[in-house]
Amino acid sequence: MDRRSFLSWVGVGWLASSLPLVIAACAPKIETETETETTSSGPQGFQEVGTLSELQKGQILVTAGLGSGPLLIVPSPGNPNAPIAVNPTCTHAGCTVKWQAEQATFVCPCHGSEFDLSGKVTKGPAAKPLPTYAAKIEANGVLVQPE
Ligand code: FES
Repeated sequence: MDRRSFLSWVGVGWLASSLPLVIAACAPKIETETETETTSSGPQGFQEVGTLSELQKGQILVTAGLGSGPLLIVPSPGNPNAPIAVNPTCTHAGCTVKWQAEQATFVCPCHGSEFDLSGKVTKGPAAKPLPTYAAKIEANGVLVQPE
């Protein structure tokens, strides 16, 4: 192979290997969709935990999937469309409180502690209130702000 043939083959090889880069550089930029996080988070950290019809049946208990721990959401006695959200873990020894709609009270089945709608202890032995969270209805969904 003489020098001219060798340089010709090198030139063709270089051109062939560079062609995909040249085509890619000249092609119009195609926007790709970015991955969207699958989350139920809404505006200002609210998360949908159920539907209004579920709430109107009495209560919604969410035991997993939220960073704050379990949530018990009940309709406000004065306004069934106004949800009230608490962490139902009794602050005495960790049992799960039950909602007593007739008394508008959260009652612990283990040692009888009671808590009002704001989570405040109304009967011991628990000494600390239940954590409460902002909750609202939006488009027939029940939304809670766990933190
Ligand atoms: Fe609730 Fe003891 S665990 S009163």
